[in-house]
Order: sequence, then C-alpha cells, then structure tokens
Amino acid sequence: MPEVVVAQGPEQVSELAADFIVRLIKGSARLKFHIALSGGKTPGLLYRCLTGPRCSDEIPWSKLHFWWGDERVVSSESPDSNFRLAQETLIERAPIDEGQIHRIEVELGADKAAASYERELIQAFGDRVVFDLVLLGVGKDGHTASIFPDSLGQLPQDRHLATTVGGEPPLERVTLTFKAINAARQVVVFVTGASKRDIIQRVLMGDERLPASLIEPGDGDRCLHFFLDKAAAAGLDKG
Ligand code: 6PG
Repeated sequence: MPEVVVAQGPEQVSELAADFIVRLIKGSARLKFHIALSGGKTPGLLYRCLTGPRCSDEIPWSKLHFWWGDERVVSSESPDSNFRLAQETLIERAPIDEGQIHRIEVELGADKAAASYERELIQAFGDRVVFDLVLLGVGKDGHTASIFPDSLGQLPQDRHLATTVGGEPPLERVTLTFKAINAARQVVVFVTGASKRDIIQRVLMGDERLPASLIEPGDGDRCLHFFLDKAAAAGLDKG
C-alpha cells in the first residue's frame, strides 16, 4: 500500500506535498534533480505553493530540470496546455533558466513530438531514464498522465513515450509510459476534490483496469505517495 497523506483541503494538502517535495530535492546528492510535471488543473495550487513564500527560498532552483509527464497537442498558449499551466504557476514565479525546461514540442505533431522527446530523454539520462520525481494526477476515469483506460492495451512496453487520445474534450496527447513512470525514484500523486472520491477509492483498492492503479515505482511503496484532500479521500474509510 503506498503512503497516503490526507489533509483538510486543497491548500493544506498542497503545503504537505510541497514540503515533501522540498525535502526530496534537498535530500538528493545528485547535481541535477529531474522532475516530470503533471498537467490538468489540480497541480497549479501545488506549483504556486512551491514558488510561494513558504517554500521558494528552500529550493535550490538551479539544480532542477523540468520535464512533462504528458502534454495535449494544442498551442502552448491554449488554456488546455500543460506547459502553459506550469509556465504561469511555476516557471514564471521562480529563478528557472530556459536550459532547465524540457517542453514536449507538440507543434511537431504527436508522433514526431514523442520521438523527439524520447531522444531528448535518452540524451539527458542515457538508456536508463530515471526521473528523481514524477508528479501525477488522476482523472475521473482513472487515467494518469495521458494513459487512459482504453489506451492500456496499445501502450508500447519498450518506449518511454506514447501518443494517445482522450480527456474532455478528447484531445491528441503525448505521454510518458509506465516504462518511464515506474522507473522513477519517487512518484507523488496529487488529487483533490469530491469528484475524484470514487475513482481514488477504486485506484487504492487496486482496480487494475485503471491506469492510476498501475503506478508502481521500482522500489516499492516507499516511492509512491498519494497526497489527497479530505474530499478526494472520503471513500477510503469505507475500505
Ligand atoms: C492531463 C493530466 C492528467 C491530469 C488528470 C487530472 O494532461 O490531463 O496530466 O493526467 O492529471 O486529468 O486533471 P485535473 O487536475 O484537471 O482534474
């Protein structure tokens, strides 16, 4: 069973998750700390917390390299862009240089963007792509990154990137695969809101039809941490 941290509301759980992430970064002896960012709407609060007065001065920003766990094939100006979310709530609010930002270049088209990102990952990591931290959310259908229930059967096992279609409205996407996600040293799953109550209950009960149930970092449960507010965790007491 992964670690499950529950706090009253989104603000409180953002602070707990941010504190945990700061401890991970400061505790790493490596010269660089590679983070794969999550998209959607939820993580904006966490990114603002990391770059706010509570955490920002604690973080050795020059050490960090920002990657994306997934991206929608939209303009980076689009409100649906995961890059835009991170730009507004994280990148513009911290001393981060361009060389630390590794955007998925979806303007190339999904297939070419996935191939290009695969090359960039191999170039940065070598054959073993090991993120220090992968941040993930969970969709109401149990998807994580942009791995949807109906994309499970077609995910390449031997590559770090895949292209999928899904979400509301359905968009073409580029996503890390479980080869990349489950090789991470640490995974934080950050979920808030009553709308995620039922799916979080199913995920933590191990419903393997749900991609979010298949997040299994290599070193076992010491590396997988769910940060939930009370509303998202409400179904857990009922077991
Ligand atoms: C994406 C996200 C996705 C997200 C969930 C939850 O690009 O869609 O990476 O995995 O984490 O869909 O999204 P919300 O935070 O908007 O509910």
